[in-house]
Amino acid sequence: MKKSVIILATGAALFAGSTIAAENPIAARKAMMQNVVQATKMGGAMLKGKMDYSPVAGQLVLRVMNQASLSFGTLFPKGSETGMETTASPKIWSDMGGFDKALVKFQADTSAGFMKVEDLEFFDKDAFGEAFGKAAANCKSCHQEYRVKKN
Ligand code: HEC
Repeated sequence: MKKSVIILATGAALFAGSTIAAENPIAARKAMMQNVVQATKMGGAMLKGKMDYSPVAGQLVLRVMNQASLSFGTLFPKGSETGMETTASPKIWSDMGGFDKALVKFQADTSAGFMKVEDLEFFDKDAFGEAFGKAAANCKSCHQEYRVKKN
């Protein structure tokens, strides 16, 4: 409970002054990644049995990641290379094609396990685990190439 309050507060601080992604793309892309990491933590917790698994929650975890893969790439306009403690690597701007490819792969890997609501009863924990593993492998591979560690 306490933790989620802190996260909400962080989000509010990032967006202070602007709520429009076009005006504050760094804040928007950080917030998007924060949604992704929380969804990823939820997926991990279900697989480890720390939270009850449900097909609906499993689908939503994948769909949060997929949603990010579809719009993350629009949040790197010229002029957003620095500031707000961004950890985006300069390589994103020098190798836009490669970054796009990484996003297309993330999009494909996050949607591979999609089920229609009518078919959700077949999306058991093992099926989720397999889809989640492939989707989550993208975090590390993209970060290694296109993110720099600060400090
Ligand atoms: C296609 C590339 C790509 C993929 C895939 C990707 N990320 Fe990121 N991520 C980035 C970039 C670039 C940043 C730096 C954004 C910035 O600081 O401007 C970032 C930043 C982050 C941050 C820090 C956000 C902040 O508040 O500064 C977290 C947390 C994160 N990613 C988690 C994840 C997780 C978890 C996954 C996998 C489920 C993932 N990312 C997949 C590119 C990616």
